[in-house]
Amino acid sequence: ASASTMESLIGLVNVLQRACTRLGDHGGDSSPSSSAAASSLPTLWESLPSVAVVGGQSSGKSSVLESIVGRDFLPRGSGIVTRRPLVLQLHKVGPGTQEYGEFLHRPKQRFTDFSLVRKEIQDETDKITGKSKQISPVPIHLSIYSPNVVNLTLIDLPGLTKVAVEGQPESIVKDIENMVHSYVEKPNCIILAISPANQDIATSDAIKLSREVDPAGERTFGVLTKLDLMDKGTNALDVLEGTAYPLKHPWVGIVNRSQADINKNVDMIAARRREREFFVSNHDYKHLASRMGSEYLAKLLSKHLESVIRARIPAITSLINKSIDELEAELNHLGRPIAIDAGSQLFTILELCRAFDAIFKQHLDGGPGGARI
Ligand code: GDP
Ligand code: NA
Ligand code: MG
Repeated sequence: ASASTMESLIGLVNVLQRACTRLGDHGGDSSPSSSAAASSLPTLWESLPSVAVVGGQSSGKSSVLESIVGRDFLPRGSGIVTRRPLVLQLHKVGPGTQEYGEFLHRPKQRFTDFSLVRKEIQDETDKITGKSKQISPVPIHLSIYSPNVVNLTLIDLPGLTKVAVEGQPESIVKDIENMVHSYVEKPNCIILAISPANQDIATSDAIKLSREVDPAGERTFGVLTKLDLMDKGTNALDVLEGTAYPLKHPWVGIVNRSQADINKNVDMIAARRREREFFVSNHDYKHLASRMGSEYLAKLLSKHLESVIRARIPAITSLINKSIDELEAELNHLGRPIAIDAGSQLFTILELCRAFDAIFKQHLDGGPGGARI
C-alpha cells in the first residue's frame, strides 16, 4: 500500500500544482482572479517539486523529455526551437485508458493525436513570439494522461546559447540565461542538466549553470546525450562514472534519436530498444548498462521526487493547513454559492488541500513505522 499511497500523493501534487497555476499564482501573475487568492498558495506552489530540463541549444533537451514520456510530441531540431517554457505534467492513469494531452489554454479539448500536440505548441509559441526567433517567459502548460508515464512535472526550457543569430536581438543570450535561472534558482527545482557527449564537458552550459545555483550537486541530475556521436576510440567513462564532474546523484548516459532517425520516423519503441542495445553491446559501457538510458532516467527521477516529497511532508502539511484556513476565510467572505470562476477554483484547491491533509493524517496515524510513506 505504501507505493500506491506515494503514487497518489505525487498525483495530488500534480493536480494541486495545476490548480494553483489555473488560479494564476505561478510566476506572480496578477490576473484578476489571483488578487483574491489565499496568500500562502504561491508559497505552496514553490514548495512543490518540479524538474527543469536545462542545457545548451541542441544538446538534446526536448529529445530527453520525449523519451521520458515515451511519445513524440515536441517540436525538435536544430536552432532555437523551444522558445517558451513548457510545463509538462505527467499523470499516470489506469491501464487501458487512452493516452491524451490537454493544454491549460484549451481546457476540455483532448488531444489524442500527438502530432497535433506538437502543432499546438508551435502555434502557441508563434502566437506570443510572433514567428520571430524571439523568446517569451510565458509558459505553455501541457498535461499528459497516460498509463505509461510516471507522475512527474517536467519543464522544457529554451536552450542556453552563446551568440544571437540573425533576426535575434543581442539581448537574447542574457534573456535566455535569466529565464532559465529563474527556474533553477528555486530550491525546490530538480535540475536535469543535459550535456552532449560529443562536446567537451568542461564547456557544458548546463553544468556551468547548475554549479552556480547548486554547487554541492544535491539537486542536479547530470545527463549525457549523444554518446553514439563520440569520436571513435574515445568514451565518456570519466563523466559517467562520476570522476570528471562528481554530483551527488549518478550520471545517466542517453542515446536519443538522431535527426536522420526523426526524418525516417523511427518510433519511440524502436528507439528505446536501440538505446538498450547500444549500452549492453558497447564494450566501454556494458558494465553500466543497467544504470543507463531514458527509461532508467525516468524511474530515477520519479524515485527522487518521492523522497523529496517525503522530506517536505511536514512543511507542505503546515502550508496546506494554512491554505485551508485562508481559503475557508476567503470563501466565507465571498459568500456561497459563488458563480464566478475564481470562487470555484478556490473551492477546488480547498478540496485538494483537504485531500492532501487526509492522506497525511491517514499516513501519520496508521501502521507501525510512524511518519513514513
Ligand atoms: P534541444 O535543442 O536541446 O531541445 O535538442 P533536441 O532534442 O531538439 O535535439 C537536437 C538535435 O540533436 C536533433 O536533431 C536530435 O535528433 C539530435 N539528437 C539529440 N540527442 C541525440 C542523441 O543522443 N544522438 C544523436 N545521434 N542525435 C541526437
Ligand atoms: Na533545438
Ligand atoms: Mg528543445
